[in-house]
Amino acid sequence: MKAAVVNAFGDPPSFQDFREPEAGEDETVVTVEAAALSPIVKGLASGRHYASGATAGFVPGVDGVGIDSEGRRVYFLFPKAPFGSMAEQSLVAKTMTVPVPDALASDRAAALVTAALASWMAFSRRARLQKGETVLILGATGASGSMAIQTARHFGAGKVVAVGRNAAKLERLDADVRIALDGHADTALRDQFDCGVDVVLDFVWGDAAARVLKAATSGRGSRMGEPRLRYVQLGTIAGDEIAIRGDMLRSTGLELIGSGIGSIAVAELLAGAGELLAVATQAGLNTQFKSLPLRAVDEAWNGDTDTRYILMPSS
Ligand SMILES: NC(=O)c1ccc[n+]([C@@H]2O[C@H](COP(=O)([O-])OP(=O)(O)OC[C@H]3O[C@@H](n4cnc5c(N)ncnc54)[C@H](OP(=O)(O)O)[C@@H]3O)[C@@H](O)[C@H]2O)c1
Repeated sequence: MKAAVVNAFGDPPSFQDFREPEAGEDETVVTVEAAALSPIVKGLASGRHYASGATAGFVPGVDGVGIDSEGRRVYFLFPKAPFGSMAEQSLVAKTMTVPVPDALASDRAAALVTAALASWMAFSRRARLQKGETVLILGATGASGSMAIQTARHFGAGKVVAVGRNAAKLERLDADVRIALDGHADTALRDQFDCGVDVVLDFVWGDAAARVLKAATSGRGSRMGEPRLRYVQLGTIAGDEIAIRGDMLRSTGLELIGSGIGSIAVAELLAGAGELLAVATQAGLNTQFKSLPLRAVDEAWNGDTDTRYILMPSS
């Protein structure tokens, strides 16, 4: 079969022949219709992600949409190495598939899960967002961050504050408040935390997170007690480490939480994907993406970082 293959960690995949998978007990071979090229796919292929495998020579792609061996159109997650989703066929545990509603095209379904699953899980499982609460999204201009505005609304957020470094992109977001990470951001952030923020979703970490946490925690320590702030860490695109003073936690209602593989079981991630696909059309969830044939994997891999690419083996 034809596949994208990572022959060495750090190298872009090449479009080439690869052996076909054979299903064992409790497995299904999926004929892939759409595979998402998301940041984690590149991270795993670089060999530097905490969940990267030990050896190269594999098909990348952690999820996709395709037809299983019983003819059902499914979204599948975490195919079995070395058979990732960026190939004509992939190998998946039967328990790692959920149905895709007929109303959703395969590429759209793959794009929606890729962009929305992070915030879906963070709100529903980790922060347990309640109706009417205020959400602040750091990294709101990215694919996952902008989708988090939509999922926050779906879960009933009362107010959504979007924070990002690109002021032009920020302006286009459907948020209640937009804060560009410029010279005025510290005051604007502090104003929001003074008004009350219940949940932060942080897709970037690094200096930007340090600024948000400083605004959230300085000058606190009320004897009446400070309100809870569930701060959910999702990505480290702006830096792996930040300094956190002990009194930031002691004098505030700050609760630092992560959301990702490990802090959430993969079976739970799959359940979340099924939930969001089931409501996506009715909830009006939408994301921008560009579909390309799998043979154009090189173009997608080296493409514009603002574009979310979906690779289609059959086109
Ligand atoms: N834990 C999870 O479940 C999960 C799931 C999906 C994604 N993630 C992670 O979340 C992060 C974002 O994913 P994505 O899909 O939204 O990626 P994306 O579409 O490429 O967006 C990247 C975002 O990060 C911002 N950014 C990059 N460097 C920055 C910096 N130095 N300071 C401030 N902002 C910076 C970008 O801002 P500009 O618009 O200004 O470029 C953009 O908003 C990635 O690290 C990804 O691995 C985690």
